[in-house]
Amino acid sequence: MTTLAGHDPAPFAFGAMQFGGGADRAASAAMYDACRAAGLRHFDTAWTYTGGDSERILGALCAAERDEVFVATKVGYTGGASEANIRGQVDESRARLKMDVIDLLYMHRFDDDTPLEITVETLARLQSDGVIRHIGVSNYAAWQVMKAACIAARFGTRIDAIQPMYNLVKRQAEVELLPMCKSEAITPVCYSPLGGGLLTGKYAAGGSGRLTEDQRYAARYGQAPMHDAARGLVDIAREVGVDPATLAVAWVAAHDAQPVPILSARSAAQLAPSLDGMRFEMGADLYARLAGLMMAPPPATDRIEEA
Ligand SMILES: NC(=O)c1ccc[n+]([C@@H]2O[C@H](COP(=O)([O-])OP(=O)(O)OC[C@H]3O[C@@H](n4cnc5c(N)ncnc54)[C@H](OP(=O)(O)O)[C@@H]3O)[C@@H](O)[C@H]2O)c1
Repeated sequence: MTTLAGHDPAPFAFGAMQFGGGADRAASAAMYDACRAAGLRHFDTAWTYTGGDSERILGALCAAERDEVFVATKVGYTGGASEANIRGQVDESRARLKMDVIDLLYMHRFDDDTPLEITVETLARLQSDGVIRHIGVSNYAAWQVMKAACIAARFGTRIDAIQPMYNLVKRQAEVELLPMCKSEAITPVCYSPLGGGLLTGKYAAGGSGRLTEDQRYAARYGQAPMHDAARGLVDIAREVGVDPATLAVAWVAAHDAQPVPILSARSAAQLAPSLDGMRFEMGADLYARLAGLMMAPPPATDRIEEA
């Protein structure tokens, strides 16, 4: 397995998507400090987050210890995966982050309109020019990752990481992506380990947040079985004596493909139970009980009797 974050003893990441949005500068700094105090050093952002403030705030927070942290950003969420758009956004990201070199650059999503050869060649050249250290892709299907990996090999490089959605109620990654990562030594860095906040249990208690404020997330997590699973998680967490968020992020990390969950929150207080997940030991019985809260997706072959 590629150890993207070097010798990090706690292979979790923190996502700065709320920096400059749900979290102001003071709240962002408090979360950054809490991550560092917990031993976390892998930080994730994107060109598209909060009009660039996420990258600006993260860059300022990292400045005094650039060599101690691992910084990933993403390009191409808007504007496509052409060479011009990738290079333009990478330069802007580096300027906002005030970093010459980006540790890990992801394509934020697949672009049907740009030949993958052009996208991957551009990433390979950025890497050989020393602008980025590792290459990643996010929101790609497994066949798209493997096609990118074949093209990357022609340029003497590889796809180091993928960034898929993955949590207790969104388990599609188990079908193709996570087995592919294990087979190909690609690091899965998984977003939304709390299902956008659903797996904190707050909606079962009538609470509010992203799922009541953002239509996209309301739709993504709108199905009744997902909310039933969140209620089941709250019950198990009460029995175990930990916060549901602690169990949810630890469950993601416990998959045998060794996913790196990207933790996130609006405040240090919200973040605390997720950081506790870094030290939570998930036994096999508890892992299976939690997995049983939601129906697993069928295998890629659809031969469920052989799974
Ligand atoms: N590649 C991609 O396409 C993609 C997509 C999404 C995210 N990401 C990355 O992954 C990171 C994490 O994703 P995510 O934010 O969706 O993760 P998540 O862990 O599923 O959701 C985090 C959200 O849950 C809520 N929350 C967290 N702790 C809580 C607590 N203790 N009590 C109540 N509510 C709590 C907060 O939202 P509210 O307070 O608003 O409810 C918080 O912003 C992002 O920062 C970003 O770096 C990547």
